Amino acid sequence: MPATHKTLIISNERLSPSVWRLRVKAPAIAREVRPGQFVQVRVADTYDPLLRTPLSVHDCDPGQGTIDLLYQTVGTSTQLLSQRQAKTELSIVGPLGRGFALPQPSANGFAILVAGGIGVAPLLLLARDLVANGINVRLLYGARTATDLVGIDAFERLGVAVACCTDDGSYGIAGNVVDLLAGFLQSGAAGEVFACGPNPMLKALQRLAGQRQFSAQLSLEAYMACGLGVCLGCAVAAPGGGYVHVCTDGPVFKESEVVL
Ligand SMILES: Cc1cc2nc3c(=O)[nH]c(=O)nc-3n(C[C@H](O)[C@H](O)[C@H](O)COP(=O)(O)OP(=O)(O)OC[C@H]3O[C@@H](n4cnc5c(N)ncnc54)[C@H](O)[C@@H]3O)c2cc1C
Ligand code: FES
Repeated sequence: MPATHKTLIISNERLSPSVWRLRVKAPAIAREVRPGQFVQVRVADTYDPLLRTPLSVHDCDPGQGTIDLLYQTVGTSTQLLSQRQAKTELSIVGPLGRGFALPQPSANGFAILVAGGIGVAPLLLLARDLVANGINVRLLYGARTATDLVGIDAFERLGVAVACCTDDGSYGIAGNVVDLLAGFLQSGAAGEVFACGPNPMLKALQRLAGQRQFSAQLSLEAYMACGLGVCLGCAVAAPGGGYVHVCTDGPVFKESEVVL
């Protein structure tokens, strides 16, 4: 059974009209967490909302004993979380799930991170580990509009080259991030692909991986209740029949392991 941690909110900062970064003191999670893992947050001290909210660990600082969560306000739980103040307690379960598998450094290869909107959340901690392992990292980051692109400076501080696109052309190339990836691969770049974003984006990326014969690790979102493999609420179809569970088998899967 994963541990429940009574954490202390250090800061809860608004980065854009709908995106916030929460920093909490959680030394045990900061020590243990691997890129791509998530936590379940009780956003209010009451039982309404009843369910905890699953959020990826965006970054961690084991020295300071802190973890960062990056979240978008979409409904009741995330709105409540955005109202939480520094110096108050927050109950967090985790770290949970199976994260990204780190590749071996190769002479000419990159790790290509592909983010769609708030899907950028798990990729900063991944970039940090990849860079620490001597791997060249590129981030391809797409969003609906310029104000939805957040935290690019944190990647750049790690030495990650960032290319952006927006649906409305307000920043970077006009278009979607899977087309940006296709163009990047067309230029001869090669590398393991790590992606997180909405399901239609991951589905398009899965199709591209089939056409261009590259492997990818996809971080999925699904409606979750228990987060522990018990309720089966987060099932996703697997090729050849059957299901996998995002909370325990994932949230990260090889592109060949799920039917989106
Ligand atoms: C493994 C995992 C990692 C995630 N990481 C992040 C992250 O780092 N940042 C971020 O902004 N969002 C992340 N999400 C999505 C986030 O959990 C939902 O946006 C959030 O639960 C919405 O809750 P709400 O009450 O604000 O919205 P509502 O739409 O009102 O949600 C109602 C209920 O539905 C469920 N739900 C709604 N949308 C989702 C969803 N996409 N995934 C899972 N459950 C959902 C929740 O249980 C919630 O209680 C992640 C989801 C998963 C499964
Ligand atoms: S959320 Fe309950 S089994 Fe995955």
